[in-house]
Amino acid sequence: MSARRIAAEQPDSFAFTKSSEAKVKFWLAKYPEDRKASAVIPLLWIAQKQENWVSEPAMREIAERCGMPYIRVYEVATFYTMFNLEQTGKHLIQVCGTTPCWLRGADELKAVCEKKIGKKGREHVSSDGALAWEEVECLGACANAPMVQISNTEGDLYYEDLTPEALEQMLDDLRAGKDVKAGPISGRSCSEPTEATVKTLVDESLYDGSRAKKIKLPNTPKSNDNDPRTPEPSKPQEKSAEMKAKPKAKVKSPAPKGVAADSGAGKKPELLDAPKGQADDLKKLSGLGPKLEASLNDAGVYHFSQIASWSAEEVAWVDAALKLRGRIERDNWIDQAKDLAGKAEG
Ligand code: FES
Repeated sequence: MSARRIAAEQPDSFAFTKSSEAKVKFWLAKYPEDRKASAVIPLLWIAQKQENWVSEPAMREIAERCGMPYIRVYEVATFYTMFNLEQTGKHLIQVCGTTPCWLRGADELKAVCEKKIGKKGREHVSSDGALAWEEVECLGACANAPMVQISNTEGDLYYEDLTPEALEQMLDDLRAGKDVKAGPISGRSCSEPTEATVKTLVDESLYDGSRAKKIKLPNTPKSNDNDPRTPEPSKPQEKSAEMKAKPKAKVKSPAPKGVAADSGAGKKPELLDAPKGQADDLKKLSGLGPKLEASLNDAGVYHFSQIASWSAEEVAWVDAALKLRGRIERDNWIDQAKDLAGKAEG
């Protein structure tokens, strides 16, 4: 991106008009007092829509309104190419010169601008002040290349599918104060395919339903015996000789879920086949969730009183059997269980 500098010639002052002032107030009211700087871009845009460009006095006024240093406003205005830093004509023609537009004839459009308005650079504003032009990067309408955006105090509109002849006519009309219709000059709507470019899916019968009518749906048979699409019922597979010869491996009945048959550590505590009456809600022990409770129940632990009575050796056995990795001691299950068992009995 080339360096953007403000114009050498500047007006003495700048003031928002009454209608601009209303817009400025609207934007400033959106932000808290100490965040007025957030309105800098909308205010720069309002100034540009009023004057067609952003002058240095306008930047100073905006800095004052936003409660920010002038240099910060200057930085924003010179960074964004949408802000015009020098006087433009009544209508600013922005010619997209990026690859899709360039491949489709942007150079010819630029030649028209040079002929009708003036050379790129200092002569880009016409001598009567009606027109100005500049080259810009992609404006996001590549499917309708080549295109230009025409900006004035009324708005910013796209003119697409241009030819050099059409642009020349448009510039003449604008200079004469006539209205020029925006959009694709090819007559297509938005970026729909034009008749000349449509090469696929052109058969009308694709869209009139005639193809669908030709499909005959078969009657649903009561039984599918006669339906040729019904697969043959699968026969039980013959066992291979190897499989027949191999004796079945004996499967050991597994230990209760989550419990090693013998943890190999400490001493096995007394475990129950079933709870004595109502099982306690072991989840009341901090650090013990539903999964662990299920494992303890599988192992035969249902009551706080059981846990409260475990010796150090029994804790070691349960810890290893349920792979608790020291959780019983860390979360102090024994003291918690003593408390809870006491409450349950009391
Ligand atoms: S390349 Fe021209 S609009 Fe995208």
